[in-house]
Amino acid sequence: MTVKISALRKLGVRAATSVEDSKYKLKIQRIVKEVVKICEEEVESYFILLVASVWIPLKKQWLKDPFEVDSFVLVSDQWEFKWISVKSAEWKQNQYLEMVYLLTKFAQSFRSESPKDVNVLVTGATGYIGKFVVRELCRRGFNVIAVARDRSGIRGRDDKVRTDQQLAGSTVCFSDVTDPDALAGALDALGRPIDAVVCCLASRGGGISDSWKVDYGASRNSLLAGRRLGASHFVLLSAICVQKPLLEFQRAKLKFEAELVEEAARDPAFTYSIVRPTAFFKSLGGQVEIVKDGKPYVMFGDGRLCACKPISEADLAAFIADCVMDEDKACKILPIGGPGKALTPLEQGELLFKLLGREPKFLKVPIQVMDYVIGVLDFLAKIFPSLEDAAEFGKIGRYYAAESMLVLDPETGEYSAEKTPSYGKDTLEDFFARVIREGMAGQELGEQTIF
Ligand SMILES: NC(=O)c1ccc[n+]([C@@H]2O[C@H](COP(=O)([O-])OP(=O)(O)OC[C@H]3O[C@@H](n4cnc5c(N)ncnc54)[C@H](OP(=O)(O)O)[C@@H]3O)[C@@H](O)[C@H]2O)c1
Repeated sequence: MTVKISALRKLGVRAATSVEDSKYKLKIQRIVKEVVKICEEEVESYFILLVASVWIPLKKQWLKDPFEVDSFVLVSDQWEFKWISVKSAEWKQNQYLEMVYLLTKFAQSFRSESPKDVNVLVTGATGYIGKFVVRELCRRGFNVIAVARDRSGIRGRDDKVRTDQQLAGSTVCFSDVTDPDALAGALDALGRPIDAVVCCLASRGGGISDSWKVDYGASRNSLLAGRRLGASHFVLLSAICVQKPLLEFQRAKLKFEAELVEEAARDPAFTYSIVRPTAFFKSLGGQVEIVKDGKPYVMFGDGRLCACKPISEADLAAFIADCVMDEDKACKILPIGGPGKALTPLEQGELLFKLLGREPKFLKVPIQVMDYVIGVLDFLAKIFPSLEDAAEFGKIGRYYAAESMLVLDPETGEYSAEKTPSYGKDTLEDFFARVIREGMAGQELGEQTIF
């Protein structure tokens, strides 16, 4: 049997408009006829309840008491639904009312519900940004299902107990996002529908095959798992640098971004928000403690090769949480930076020396040094394929040393600070001041200490 969700939604909208009408019976009969037409099959009159209860009883346990319930799984052409059929010999008017209410609920987008009724699946929940996203969503009252590995964090340093503590307020689902069957099974075991998915996954190292496995593959698994459980919105944490893709992880991210756009084109009921942030604080704080110890601030060229509008974890998490419900952020690619003007490495260094109350002391490294290193690594990788990732890490370092994390203006081909939107309140100056006081705890870089 093939049942299209868009057709069922239309049905729900029609049912909603019939709430004012006292002749429920006639209305319901009409709806049942429509269901029959959609399903191209003869159905019993109670089938309409079955249709209406795709998600709601799972969520609300509404129909369990007044009706006799039995459930089964039906696989349509694109969707697998858990169906619950509800049988009752005599329909009473209030039951019809419930039924219409259910259809109304079914017709509504989760965006019209209050956060306490919205289930959000977060993958990459244990990452630098993911942890803050989980915290922010929980703070806003969403039901958060956070997926984590048995050992999470940088180099798997956190066990399940520690992960549970870090993701307090959410339901932690321990599973493997790189294995679609394991992920589906673990989420099924929770028995909850999903309204929206937030994906903060990223390869921890940035190596070539890991980028394809995680930034593309595991993100895609998150989409499939969410869709299977009813998700109609997907928020992707991507990166502003994908607008000029020269690196493998950027290509992997772009491929998945394109699949999200395709999914929305295929199903008008599906939406996405692709969030492309500029630089994170952790990526800019690496020299604070070194400079504090009296060493010079190292920069490439004259320190003006690139610029960014850094954004804090908390501000980015708030922006991502906005994307879950805001209609105006749906089906959009959203570049986003932090508050204030764009800063070059030279300006970041000057800021740091000002906070330390010292005379600026810079070490300027010609960018050609990196080109030379990359050239050597590329050559060696052709002979020793195991060096492929090392060459890629060199290219990643080169990219961040010379490319701005700002919107690339398609008209001029130049990076534009003006065209890069700002969000939030946390400034790099405050962050540097905090690191000077408290150190870099919580701001550690990934496994290759690149980003
Ligand atoms: N750094 C920057 O300045 C910057 C700027 C803009 C955009 N971005 C983008 O922001 C994104 C997220 O960054 P982040 O710093 O929050 O990432 P992160 O701290 O490295 O977190 C990565 C997340 O993905 C999970 N993950 C990685 N490999 C996995 C695997 N094989 N199986 C299961 N889970 C896996 C990690 O789980 P575990 O905890 O289990 O490892 C973790 O939850 C990246 O896409 C990055 O490109 C970064």
